[in-house]
Amino acid sequence: MSGQTQEPKSQDNSPSEMPVPLLDISRGNNPLKAEIMAAFEKVVDSGRFLFGPDVFQLEESMAEICQAKFGIGCASGSDALLLSLMAFDIGPGDEVIVPSFTFFATASAVTRLGATPVFVDIEPETFNLDASLIEAAITPNTKAIIPVHLFGQCADITEIIAIADTHNLKVIEDAAQSIFSEHQGQRACSQGDIGCVSFYPTKNLGGMGDGGMLVTSDEALADKLKLLRGHGMAPRYYHQIIGINSRLDTLQAAALNVKLAHMPRWTSMRQANAARYHEMFAECGLDTVLGLPKTAPGKTHIWNQYTVRVPNGQRDALKQHLADKQIGSEIYYPVPLHQQECFAYLNVDSSTLPETEQAAAEVLNLPIFPELTEQEQRRVVDTVACFPGFQQTTIHSTHTLKGPHFLRRQQEQRKSA
Ligand SMILES: Cc1ncc(COP(=O)(O)O)c(C=O)c1O
Repeated sequence: MSGQTQEPKSQDNSPSEMPVPLLDISRGNNPLKAEIMAAFEKVVDSGRFLFGPDVFQLEESMAEICQAKFGIGCASGSDALLLSLMAFDIGPGDEVIVPSFTFFATASAVTRLGATPVFVDIEPETFNLDASLIEAAITPNTKAIIPVHLFGQCADITEIIAIADTHNLKVIEDAAQSIFSEHQGQRACSQGDIGCVSFYPTKNLGGMGDGGMLVTSDEALADKLKLLRGHGMAPRYYHQIIGINSRLDTLQAAALNVKLAHMPRWTSMRQANAARYHEMFAECGLDTVLGLPKTAPGKTHIWNQYTVRVPNGQRDALKQHLADKQIGSEIYYPVPLHQQECFAYLNVDSSTLPETEQAAAEVLNLPIFPELTEQEQRRVVDTVACFPGFQQTTIHSTHTLKGPHFLRRQQEQRKSA
């Protein structure tokens, strides 16, 4: 070693080395910490840890946001789905139409009640239920449809409700990932019989733990859901029906009320980030290599996830390449529900779900949280652009993929040199 003072090794401070997390919850929560702590203190002082005023305030606000009449707090998005199915007395012998490309809870709520999930394929562009395939899946046993508004974009809810009405089926909107998203000017949860929301910390409106909300405009249904979430008990120690214990804690509601005021701004920031990714990927020609996520006509996307498709079996290698460069990414969802071990007993015919299986093999979710900076997005895009798999694709050009513009330019320069 020479006696010279060495420069300390760059520790994540040069933009080109900077780690980029998939999600940094603290960037949203930290500026609100004092306000949230004050709200917590009020709850602690009141001692009303269940059914405190914050719960009722949040229920009212959520109903208004979802363009519905009633909000009913519960312990999680999973419980919201379960309670909805319980409210319609769904059980053994009944079938419920669901997507297979979704989070587990959408289908497990059905099986927990002894009913059967019937999986319908998705539209490749939006990852949501393909409404044109629903009718063929309806049998005399079908009782309900659960469209999931996946990644922040509404399914074709108007069409789905029209089908449901024709066949006298209930519609339960799984809007766990889509508060504030719209279909033809109407908010998620405003059109189905019941809407289900999750406040899991990674959602666009994330709590400090678990929480959920049911939304409906049907007063009798709202009353039944309130009964069901509290052991079917009314009055105290008199149980009218068999319910469960699924309440939204006042502490959660207090934090969510503080955060709710910031939702319009956070939603705009996510939308701006999505637009910027589109521009950046297009600038370097990656828009013709990756499948970039699309907003379908008439929808307002709230970008809970920014989900690209990586074709030609290169998804896992790209994910590893990003991880090597300290860039967070995730696969939502690597195994469709019909292929889950616990659902093997359903003996689903995979040939009916080709788009679901292709999506599971190709999707990769990139950072999109509101406070993500332009510099961080630039790093994500530049790192994707340097992925050797895409360079191979271009050099050998045996695939259907076109290489990014900048790589094609490099090749042409190499040829003419
Ligand atoms: C589509 C979907 N449905 C249901 C749920 C369940 O919500 P929770 O985690 O609040 O139980 C989630 C959350 O992960 C989800 O993404």
